[in-house]
Amino acid sequence: MFSTDELCSLRWDPVSEKVEIIDQTLLPHTLRWCHLDSMEAFCHAISSMQVRGAPLIGVTAAFGLAHALAEDASDKNLADAAATLLATRPTAVNLRWALEEISSEVRNLPVVERARAALEKAHALRAEDIANCERIGDNGLRLLQELEVGDCLNIMTHCNAGWLAAVQWGTALAPVYKAHASGVPVHVWVSETRPRNQGMNLTAWELQRAGVPCTIVADNSCGQLMRQGRVDCVIVGSDRTAANGDVCNKIGTYLKALAAQASDIPFYVALPESTIDWECPAGEQIPIEERDAAEVLTIAGLDAGGDLREVNLAAAHSQALNPAFDVTPSDLVGALITEHGNFEASVKGLQQLRAVVKGV
Ligand code: MRU
Repeated sequence: MFSTDELCSLRWDPVSEKVEIIDQTLLPHTLRWCHLDSMEAFCHAISSMQVRGAPLIGVTAAFGLAHALAEDASDKNLADAAATLLATRPTAVNLRWALEEISSEVRNLPVVERARAALEKAHALRAEDIANCERIGDNGLRLLQELEVGDCLNIMTHCNAGWLAAVQWGTALAPVYKAHASGVPVHVWVSETRPRNQGMNLTAWELQRAGVPCTIVADNSCGQLMRQGRVDCVIVGSDRTAANGDVCNKIGTYLKALAAQASDIPFYVALPESTIDWECPAGEQIPIEERDAAEVLTIAGLDAGGDLREVNLAAAHSQALNPAFDVTPSDLVGALITEHGNFEASVKGLQQLRAVVKGV
């Protein structure tokens, strides 16, 4: 299903020898690839959310650090560039993980060998992300096959945890794509995800391109749909999962988990191991990014003439608060779907996952 470079969010252009990304701030109205060819461009891409989603942020940062080392591979620049990239977004732990993967790969090499090694490692992380997300899809599909459903499997998701948020497949949407490809009739409730509308702008766009039936709903309608029995399960991604199974994800995830529990609907979180922060004991310790109030107070869209416009929603001088993520306590999470299998969201479950990873 994802065998071509066409359906991916980040690719390598062999002619220019540069990374290309889809500028996700322009979706769903414009599909534009752009080159990242300076440290400023890499940092801007992450902080302005041209690329976003925990796994994709990590892969982009890996190529960013490789780019920095191609210009200056000294110890000082390695540390400075990693720190600059790390500061672009605080919550998705894949960013820190990817920078550490590159740094530890090159740290003990002679300076002249570092740039090439870093670039090779960045390519390897990209390939690994694709393979991991496909495994998440297979493992998630097994859970979906256990559900008792009617004629069609109705899955609710929040934000965008599809291939736009990873390199291919995605995390939460990978089981959806696997189900669809295996002939299971599936329909996705896409929650719009205010304030940046990643559900409406990105998830619906990528599901439509893949031919998966989906319906956009306002965030506030999700509890009602669950109460009405119109949702078989909820699957979301994660930006950072603590060692006790608490899950940090896009703001609004927690409310969905509460509603799912109240309606006895399974609530699953799909994530690669790189999203687990083993050093973080519980969700309270996860840094929550606070973004510009303008994201709440304004909205962009096409006007009647097809031109992109940003408009004010609130009265002039209104105050707004914009926390970008929330924490869902582990006891609301039915299972963590990972590339290593499906695990309970608990200290015990995560220790089991760790044992599988270490091969013990
Ligand atoms: O602010 P964003 O768009 O980067 O937030 C993305 C999410 O919250 C995703 O659910 C998460 O990163 C998982 S992506 C596979």
